[in-house]
Amino acid sequence: MGATASNAVVVPPPATLHPILDLEEDNLRDGAFDDTAGTYDATFTDTKVGRALREIVWSRLEQVFRPSQRILELGCGTGEDAVRLASSGVRVVATDSSSQMIQMARRKARIGNCQERIEFRCLAMEAIGSFAEGDVFDGVLSNFGAVNCVQDLQALVADVAERLAPGAPLLWVVMGRHAPWEWLWYLMRGRWRKAWRRLRPGGIKWRGLTISYPTPAQMRSLLRPHFAVTRLAPLGVALPPSYAAAWLDRSPFAARVLTRLERWAQRSNMLASWSDHFIVEAVRLARCSAPVNTPASAA
Ligand SMILES: C[S@@+](CC[C@H](N)C(=O)[O-])C[C@H]1O[C@@H](n2cnc3c(N)ncnc32)[C@H](O)[C@@H]1O
Repeated sequence: MGATASNAVVVPPPATLHPILDLEEDNLRDGAFDDTAGTYDATFTDTKVGRALREIVWSRLEQVFRPSQRILELGCGTGEDAVRLASSGVRVVATDSSSQMIQMARRKARIGNCQERIEFRCLAMEAIGSFAEGDVFDGVLSNFGAVNCVQDLQALVADVAERLAPGAPLLWVVMGRHAPWEWLWYLMRGRWRKAWRRLRPGGIKWRGLTISYPTPAQMRSLLRPHFAVTRLAPLGVALPPSYAAAWLDRSPFAARVLTRLERWAQRSNMLASWSDHFIVEAVRLARCSAPVNTPASAA
């Protein structure tokens, strides 16, 4: 994985920009992410904060996934991570429920000349059971809150476990529940309801999706039946969330200092509970066979 962020493939954005995941728009729509696909990279991926956060995730991808492994990616978006992995020799089956996101990602893979190592599928995570029986992956990745869009995380964990060999790694970046940056950002603007939105029981409705915000402890217990959690780390504890990207783009000094602090914070699993996102890494446990109900064991 020799490439740096500056080598990342840049696909030119269309003229109009929409903020990503602006949860004020709660009008119900199909293809919730379709109309953010064209602007996602301009409003997040290619901003200072987006790059700094993704660099941290990429440093973990290098540790977790190996060249020639075949990895399942859930909610691949515009394909930034799939292209990065494929450029380093990892084979990726990159899935997303938004056809527009998949289209952007395909284009990026072509420009990055690594399309032969990426298989794109427009597929919802809830449907990964539709992969052929016995189609088993060497690992699973999901970055920047894609799994927060799934209503039944317990079922997702079980479906993913079915698709992984024992010992296979999982790396998910999940939006957390307690995000002091978000509290500060909205409280300073007098937007009390929005500041506490992640604490609402049952999650937030957005474009027909329910976005939920599990804590790292909840995620650990959701994973427990099938996975052993090996690492929890914060992401977006010092650096602000994506809606503050424009602010940070105007402040190179603040960007430098906060990026340094963010990297330092990687050492603390406690801070995972107090950040915009958190990184959870785990390994698939060996499958246990069902207990045999012999007279001796039943006694
Ligand atoms: C915030 S974006 C993250 C994209 C990408 N992982 C990244 O790192 O930039 C969330 C992505 O998850 C996808 N998504 C949301 N719900 C999904 C679902 N149920 N199944 C598959 N993809 C989903 C969206 O279409 C979107 O591309």
